[in-house]
Amino acid sequence: MKFAIINDIHIGNYRPYKGIYRKVTPHAQKLLRNFVQKMNGSFMPDFVVQGGDMIEDTNLVVDKINYKRGLAILSKLNCPVYHLVGNHELKHLSIKYLKETLKYKKLYFDVDSKNFRFIFLFTKRVYPSKEIRLDSSQLKWFKKKMNTDKKIVIFSHYSLVKVNTHGNFWFNERPDLTFIKNHRQFLDTIVGKNVKLVFNGHLHWNKKAVVNGVHFITVQSLVENTSGKVEGPAANAFTLVNLDDDFAYIKTTGKGGKNYKIKI
Ligand SMILES: [Fe+2]
Ligand SMILES: [Fe+2]
Repeated sequence: MKFAIINDIHIGNYRPYKGIYRKVTPHAQKLLRNFVQKMNGSFMPDFVVQGGDMIEDTNLVVDKINYKRGLAILSKLNCPVYHLVGNHELKHLSIKYLKETLKYKKLYFDVDSKNFRFIFLFTKRVYPSKEIRLDSSQLKWFKKKMNTDKKIVIFSHYSLVKVNTHGNFWFNERPDLTFIKNHRQFLDTIVGKNVKLVFNGHLHWNKKAVVNGVHFITVQSLVENTSGKVEGPAANAFTLVNLDDDFAYIKTTGKGGKNYKIKI
């Protein structure tokens, strides 16, 4: 069983933060097309996860256009693609619009395949508030989904556990914008259950933490300029995961990429 994750694609305006063009947005669509080609031509995953922040927010009209551009490119994949919603989608696009456009009843859902249960969570931020959370109806649903003998793999845009953002370009001074407020409730829910791996994006770096024996893996943005210069190339990062009965083999591609072999 194998899948790929592509996240923080950020189709949209090219603009600096702290004087640095850190998201190479002008290359986002080209890199996304290359990714689709690689998936169809060589990796051939069972599914792809689009991990949120497919767009760089501008305004309602532009964001709708860019969101559909991303969907159109990903629709060329020869496998299912599951979409998470990131904060840059939520700035101007409504939850109603996102559900209709994705043809999803809910922005959280699960898929069972072989001996795995894949769970896709909606870590919601309601602007202008800084509050990020899993709402209570989702948590209730999530609790029920824990009752399985299958191995559980979870995906979300924001981190589901508290993270140390020291040295992170985007969130060094604002760690509260990286993880859900009700992370304790989340951890209480998964304790003693069959959760093996948890993946998130949003922080635009590669990092792994082990909390209560569960591996939490943060994966790099497709378009991050990690050169340290005002302008530089995109990391061209995405994540390839192979699962067998005993191990997960995880490879984040691109600049600063990482490999992990994790017992599952
Ligand atoms: Fe992002
Ligand atoms: Fe984000």
